[in-house]
Amino acid sequence: MKIRILPSLLAADMGNLAAEARRAQAAGGDELHLDIMDGVFVPNISMGPAVVAMAHQAVSIPLNVHLMLLHPDQYIEAFAAAGAATLLIHIEAECDVPATLARIRARGIHPGITLNPGTPADRIFPVLDAVDEVLCMTVHPGHGGQSFMAEVLPKITAVRRALDARGRTGARVMVDGGIAETTAARCAAAGADSFVAGTTVYHAADMREMVSRLRQTATDAYIDR
Ligand code: DX5
Ligand code: ZN
Repeated sequence: MKIRILPSLLAADMGNLAAEARRAQAAGGDELHLDIMDGVFVPNISMGPAVVAMAHQAVSIPLNVHLMLLHPDQYIEAFAAAGAATLLIHIEAECDVPATLARIRARGIHPGITLNPGTPADRIFPVLDAVDEVLCMTVHPGHGGQSFMAEVLPKITAVRRALDARGRTGARVMVDGGIAETTAARCAAAGADSFVAGTTVYHAADMREMVSRLRQTATDAYIDR
């Protein structure tokens, strides 16, 4: 499985978002991760469809859009029109999750499902056939710069095995929150192949070098199950 590094725009300089999006692309980011927060599902408010549309103009790498919304089903069209390549919704959202994933797919967008740290892996098993990505949160969502939660590691392995058992060997297992070299290696060894990183890459002295280091560390540690 090819290892992917996804810089998270949440950690960027908010006064220069277009330039910061381009910086992620120039640094070798595989996709740009955008965190959308509604102040209800999570205790913070971040960016909306207009920022996704801005990034769509600024970069050519795919836009990986993480919807931390209580009602993501009400915003699929807006984020599709803005240029999202992937739309990740939360299993904890208050909506018809299978129907929402199907609507995302019907728009030609990769559907993804996300689990909070406290949500057991089996909650998402019923929708595994409907998604291209599973995002295991390794912090409580809402803010960048938090500490990695190692208790999520067994869930990463459980998700990878469940996907493989269904023949979904190409589906991605992502991690998000507190990702740096050490934690990326631990997640890769547990079965993660895609790494969202905000603070670690945007605050690095050399972003390109940091993206390369994360990719190399994760590649070395990755265990194909
Ligand atoms: C947290 C967001 C993350 C955030 C990660 O709610 O989903 O994508 O940007 O930030 P770091 O990498 O700083 O923990
Ligand atoms: Zn995120």
